[in-house]
Amino acid sequence: MAKLAHAQWSSKMTFVLAAAGSAVGLGNIWRFSYMVGDSGGAAFVLVYLACVALVGLPILVAEWMIGRRGQKNPINTMAELAANHGKSPAWALVGISGVLAAFLILSFYSVIGGWSLNYTLSSVIGTFNGQDADSIGELFGGMLESPATLLLWHTAFMVLVVGIVARGVTKGLESAARLMMPALIVLMLVLVGYGVASGYFGEALAFMFRPDWSALTGGVVLAAMGQAFFTLSLGMGIMMAYGSYLGEDVNLISTARTVIILDTAIALLAGLAIFPIVFANGLSAGEGPGLIFVTLPLAFGNMAGGTILGLMFFLLLTFAALTSAISLLEPVVETLEERTSLSRIGSTLASGIAVWLLGVAALLSFNVWSEVLFFGLNIFDLLDTFTSKILLPLTGLGAIVFVGWCLKRESTEAELGLSATGVNVWNILARYVAPAGVIVVFVAGLI
Ligand code: TRP
Repeated sequence: MAKLAHAQWSSKMTFVLAAAGSAVGLGNIWRFSYMVGDSGGAAFVLVYLACVALVGLPILVAEWMIGRRGQKNPINTMAELAANHGKSPAWALVGISGVLAAFLILSFYSVIGGWSLNYTLSSVIGTFNGQDADSIGELFGGMLESPATLLLWHTAFMVLVVGIVARGVTKGLESAARLMMPALIVLMLVLVGYGVASGYFGEALAFMFRPDWSALTGGVVLAAMGQAFFTLSLGMGIMMAYGSYLGEDVNLISTARTVIILDTAIALLAGLAIFPIVFANGLSAGEGPGLIFVTLPLAFGNMAGGTILGLMFFLLLTFAALTSAISLLEPVVETLEERTSLSRIGSTLASGIAVWLLGVAALLSFNVWSEVLFFGLNIFDLLDTFTSKILLPLTGLGAIVFVGWCLKRESTEAELGLSATGVNVWNILARYVAPAGVIVVFVAGLI
């Protein structure tokens, strides 16, 4: 293969941390738990796990592979690889829709990142101490009803993201993930322990793992696949961009397995921490996007050492949200920087402001614009639904179809370092299983 066009990750570890830093975020804790609750539990969880393994893993590998082959940003990489393989320039659309998805996702992601910042502060000042479920619920409801509060925290979160991306210090943060991930896991284990002590752990376990298949509709299956894409940061080109910095010696499949296991473990732990609290307090699992904010503070407010644990938890959650948010802004900024005359700072500011504005529309849908509906969805839900259920799967489908059907066999062999049989198994996954999975789920979910 040609000499690498630009710098590489200093080590495989740095790469795993960067990829995990993007993957592990609000999606694992906030979004996973509320989707499980909304979709009726175990059936969703099991379909989600199947999607992660059968669709997520091959697409993650495919995105890294495309990135490492192409050595450019997602749009140029797709255009160039397509040209080299005598395919249509329209493949660049895969890169373009990825950048669009990043832009849309970050707008509502920042609103929730703001909630997390707000709850970090509330933990410090002991707001949750000794509160019961009703008062915790009122605190959350009060925040949602106040456009000014939501605006303040959304703005604070975006300023942090823009500040970090503008200064180009994202690499430094990624090594901080080395400390953050284990700390997050330990804290989740403490919370799971609290759930066990509450006596409602069995209920939570059954809710998450004993499926009632009658709850399984096309919509639930599509939601589960959307969650798999969202949580692994797939279908947006970010993993392609990371792949372009990846050394030849890194084994894509085993690295993907590591990232996926870490990501999935954190999500499942989050569920096992949150649902005992839901059942112990007679709360509703289908509470929606507020689920972690009306449950976890209850635990922190009523357990020994809860103030400090709560502070640590929301700080870590905010940090995880920031590393993911950075990975969402970065491709938008790079695209602007390359295609306009704007500088790095200018591109970061311009995209930050545009994302922030759309985020304002998203946060207003919790209060003054709650009646503004498109296809029956408020703006927040529309942004989330359109990206996770449509844009991400279609972009990911493009990536896997390209790798499965357009890349030469030699390229696949060189990239994966597999035996002939291994490549055949990979081809079955990449050509049939993963694409068919996406298409079937997609069609089932839309009809
Ligand atoms: N995966 C992140 C999370 O779980 C969110 C995220 C970051 C993302 N980059 C992405 C989602 C790209 C989709 C596409 O919180």
